[in-house]
Amino acid sequence: MKDTRSNPETKKLAGVQAARLIQDGMLVGIGTGSTIAFLIKELGRRVREEGIRITGVPTSFQSRLSCNQLGIPVREMQDCAALDLALDGADEVDPDLNVIKGGGGSQTREKIVAAMAREFVVVVDESKLVATLGAAFPIPVEVLPSGLAYVERAIRDLGASPALRIATSGKDGPVVTDNGQFILDVRFPPGTDLRAADERMHRIPGVLETGLFLDLAGKVVVGGGSADGPAVRTLMRAK
Ligand code: 5RP
Repeated sequence: MKDTRSNPETKKLAGVQAARLIQDGMLVGIGTGSTIAFLIKELGRRVREEGIRITGVPTSFQSRLSCNQLGIPVREMQDCAALDLALDGADEVDPDLNVIKGGGGSQTREKIVAAMAREFVVVVDESKLVATLGAAFPIPVEVLPSGLAYVERAIRDLGASPALRIATSGKDGPVVTDNGQFILDVRFPPGTDLRAADERMHRIPGVLETGLFLDLAGKVVVGGGSADGPAVRTLMRAK
């Protein structure tokens, strides 16, 4: 489930800029998605041409394969408890730098990696900046398949509308995550207190993790542009 308003050029700007935050010797969480694909490409170039020595901790099979292809050394996330930095894309970012993630279905691994990092940086193009989370993009919720019907009912009881994410190519039926689970894309009515709703969803047996990343991002690198040309800016979370 991806946003079609995004622009590959501004994603690339943000991804390339964010790759510069990685310093020699770092253990770095590497997120998932098309913006992070640009970051991985630039990181591969830095490893080859600048000789920086880093180890990446990918959040998905997709990012792991890209790191392998580009010669970026990787470590399994299950072998890590702390990271110097984690970089990841997002589907929506609000003015407090709270974020919805999981358009690529990797939010559970992404949240673990973000939580274990000393600094979590979100990398987006400016189409992802919104006034209110969840007005346009639903909240992806990873669900144990055997709990699907119950979780759907419990989420409806919260006043929300869950929709099972269905694969659009290469597979019939539900999207199955890298963890072997399903995704429900959950829409709440306008004005819902999403922080409270998130706490309630976490209490439903069968819910593995949600795509609401609250109070996790320290900064957001935003690729955009104006009449003066392309530009990248960095938003910092208020202390
Ligand atoms: C994957 C994610 C992605 O980071 C998010 O969907 C943004 O992707 P893209 O950079 O392709 O727009 O959360 O689970």
